[in-house]
Amino acid sequence: MKSPIPDYLAGVLEKVRPIERGAPAGYIDTLARADTSKLAVAIAMVDGNLYSAGDDRVEFSIQSISKAFVYALAIEDSGLERVLEKIGVEPSGDAFNELSLEKGTNRPMNPMINAGAITAHSLVVGPDATAEQRTDRILKALSRLAGRELHVDEEVYESELKDGDRNMGIGHMLKAAGIIKCNPQEVVRGYIRQCSINVNVRDLAMMAATLCNAGVHPVTGESIIPQRSVRQVLSVMTTCGMYDAAGDWVSNVGIPAKSGVAGGIIGALPGQVGLAAFSPKLDERGNSVRGVAICEKMSSDMGLHMMEASQIARATVRTSVATIVAGECEPHNRNCQREVVIFSLRGAVRFAGSERLSRAIQREVGDPDPADPGSGAHADACAIVLSFRDVYSLSAVAQKVIGEVVRRLLLEDRSVVIVDPSHVFPKEVKGDKDAQHPVIVQSEGEARDHIGGRGCSTLQKTDSW
Ligand code: DON
Repeated sequence: MKSPIPDYLAGVLEKVRPIERGAPAGYIDTLARADTSKLAVAIAMVDGNLYSAGDDRVEFSIQSISKAFVYALAIEDSGLERVLEKIGVEPSGDAFNELSLEKGTNRPMNPMINAGAITAHSLVVGPDATAEQRTDRILKALSRLAGRELHVDEEVYESELKDGDRNMGIGHMLKAAGIIKCNPQEVVRGYIRQCSINVNVRDLAMMAATLCNAGVHPVTGESIIPQRSVRQVLSVMTTCGMYDAAGDWVSNVGIPAKSGVAGGIIGALPGQVGLAAFSPKLDERGNSVRGVAICEKMSSDMGLHMMEASQIARATVRTSVATIVAGECEPHNRNCQREVVIFSLRGAVRFAGSERLSRAIQREVGDPDPADPGSGAHADACAIVLSFRDVYSLSAVAQKVIGEVVRRLLLEDRSVVIVDPSHVFPKEVKGDKDAQHPVIVQSEGEARDHIGGRGCSTLQKTDSW
């Protein structure tokens, strides 16, 4: 079978191709002459699978999309605290090249407008770094993110430098305000070089997917951006990535994103998928017209809006009961019938899932509550089984909540058996007495043998019991 996804992507391109609005960036000669018929899209999954359509190998300069990644590098090299001292995180509502500073703090409003991005560039490597060291660090990091060696487009660089008075002006403004200490012309030249790195949509989708994958490159498995920085970058992409179109973007598309004046756009939906689109004609805010349309369509077709509740927490816990007839061995007399309550969790369990589990256990095996008919139905259960067989991950808070639930059950001298073939449950959970600890097994069969003794059988079966 041929995957339907490339055909879907090709269909998206055909849908947006008739849109003729916009014009390529006029203030950089090379971009002004861009072939405006070029159109491409790519998506990269967090497991590294990549799909693309259209002019997916055509290269264009990364421009402002680089700002998101250079912000991450600035955080890594100078520390978040220092970066926040120098660059704010508030949407400015201004154009990307506005000569503006935040009232009161004198910082650039955010790292996505040029003033903030030039400052972030100056914070890469360290305060005493040379311009070459900074651009070298950035080129290498972007190459690792793309998964191939990238290059600066010298023609674009020269072309932008030639008419770079506005950015030079921003550099001098930053120096005068004490935000940057180094030579402003050198920093702006470095920033323009960073913007002139060539990429295609496949590179960009993979770079975006690395952000979606907690900073770990989906193909190489290399941890490139620390998770805390990823959170910071995605936050400012959400509020400031599309400049003065941020509000429209968040409500229509709902994916953290960044655009560039060569016509590229990336979107990074945490934990799911990295998107990239390319078409050179821009709207008045500097965002690719067809690129925005592609992202809007994909978000709506595929339900990618980050505010869409894709996994309702209620679905994560299932309760079932099995009756076990004890075998010849301990712990029960032969033919003794006892009930076992099994709580099965599913998926990526976070706080809401752990709270659901805690509530379900309390209701089923706790004391009956007159106000809640049916509660306490299994208060005398012989054993409580927590099955993590279908759990993909337990977040730190879910581990804490479930660990505490288990500790409390053990303190009540309950027999707790945990089915955990993928080792998601924290090993160190124990009751207060030395002898108290949950039994951890690999399968439901092992759990049943442990509870009923070897040779036991189940009368009332459930699931795989
Ligand atoms: O600073 C500039 O003018 C460009 N090199 C980058 C601007 C840019 O990509 C704005 N994004 N839409």
